[in-house]
Amino acid sequence: MSLLYIFRRKKPAPNENYGKKSFTCVWLWFAVEYSRTLRKDVFHYMIKVDISNVWGQLTLGDLLAMEKEVADAHTTLVDGTGEGNDFLGWLNLPVREPTEEIKRIQSAAKKIRENSDVFVVIGIGGSYLGPRAAIELLQGPNHNIGKGKGNPQIFFAGNGLSTRHWNELQGLLEDKDFSIAIISKSGTTTEPAIATRALRWMLERKYGTAGAKERIFAITDPCKGALRQMATEEGWETFVIPQNVGGRYSVLTPVGLLPLAVAGIDIMEMMNGAVDAKETYNLRSFENPVWQYAAVRNLLYRNGKAMEIFESYEPGFKMFGGWWQQLFGESEGKDGKGLFPVTAEFTADLHSLGQMIQQGQRNIFETMVRFDPPAALYTIGSDWKNLDGLNYLEGKTLDFVDEKAYLGTVAAHVDGGVPVITMDCGELNDRKVGELFYFLELCCGVSAYILDVNPFNQPGVEFYKRNMFKLLGKPGYENQ
Ligand code: PA5
Repeated sequence: MSLLYIFRRKKPAPNENYGKKSFTCVWLWFAVEYSRTLRKDVFHYMIKVDISNVWGQLTLGDLLAMEKEVADAHTTLVDGTGEGNDFLGWLNLPVREPTEEIKRIQSAAKKIRENSDVFVVIGIGGSYLGPRAAIELLQGPNHNIGKGKGNPQIFFAGNGLSTRHWNELQGLLEDKDFSIAIISKSGTTTEPAIATRALRWMLERKYGTAGAKERIFAITDPCKGALRQMATEEGWETFVIPQNVGGRYSVLTPVGLLPLAVAGIDIMEMMNGAVDAKETYNLRSFENPVWQYAAVRNLLYRNGKAMEIFESYEPGFKMFGGWWQQLFGESEGKDGKGLFPVTAEFTADLHSLGQMIQQGQRNIFETMVRFDPPAALYTIGSDWKNLDGLNYLEGKTLDFVDEKAYLGTVAAHVDGGVPVITMDCGELNDRKVGELFYFLELCCGVSAYILDVNPFNQPGVEFYKRNMFKLLGKPGYENQ
């Protein structure tokens, strides 16, 4: 239904030339719907991008005028002719059948699930956000409750320098059997290196050097870096982050796959979702939701929008928003350009950010991610006293209320001058999350090339490190 979504809008926005567009819209809609019936294989998996709520700020002409630009950006990405083309390994990570490395991941995960109450994942940025995003999206933010040996709790470490967080983790690990994954592509990042030293010593004190060796897994560069050297010297089991895959594009490497397999997520289902995405979203036309999202966010940026709010009505989505934030923020925020990526959780944040979105500076737009409701629905009951006045909702499901909140919010924000893009993802499951990861990575690559920046470097991240190392007295940084 993606083109239907492009053109459908209940009422024209104030500056919209609605009449002129409608004839074109109707015949294009029929053409696309007809093509869908012929090409079910292609459209079956599609995440639907609804851009019907941006027309108050853009015109169809604006969008169609971008066709060549989007086509060129897409070709530059997949043909590997753009800047940063030595980091395109992620394009070909999805596989239908498990590779030898994936089989090793599955057997390491089985061992960890059997012998550990807790699995600690050490890493920062692209070396931790992906697995945490997928676990929380699929299993909820409270996924650790009630877990233990057989289905271990998963905690994350090395993603900051908070002593309180470290003290809490130490407490949580007391009297628990645990294993660790150390994830660092460079193998030299300070935060995970400090956590590694501490957790490794905890393991060695508890299980002895030989016992600890069975519980430490390193995920790093195939040959370079301190972590690779340590793992080789200590005899830890290792998995490879390919050299041509950057951190924020690495969730479909062992970076994501090992923690996700330990969490009990079917990683081959995820991989298959990513293969679906790779095959489906290679379409070179505006039928492709990748094109719609990449083009519209660039058009809105050119029209003065400075900030994109990526949001959902699922509390488990928060970390997924964090993953998206890094993906787009690090890929596009350079050369003085880029939309500032922000995430929000509705309806909770409607009671905090809602005022700002409705009536604050008009330099924002929203991208709303929707999933189908789960199979088990909650129905609101009747209360004979009805003191809360809620009996008008008797017999309605919580999901029904959520849907109305979503529709009401979109209408209010659009009327308030905030365009809303909706990504309708359908059923939420392991396969869908794989599709969504790959889909958004593609969107990001295409969008960044439209913006004319290198999507695969992050030179700005080094600045704070240089200052910190100088202040810490790290050898070699005295004269920075
Ligand atoms: O996307 C990136 O490249 C960064 O966020 C890195 O993943 C992050 O800085 C961690 O780096 P490393 O994996 O080398 O420890």
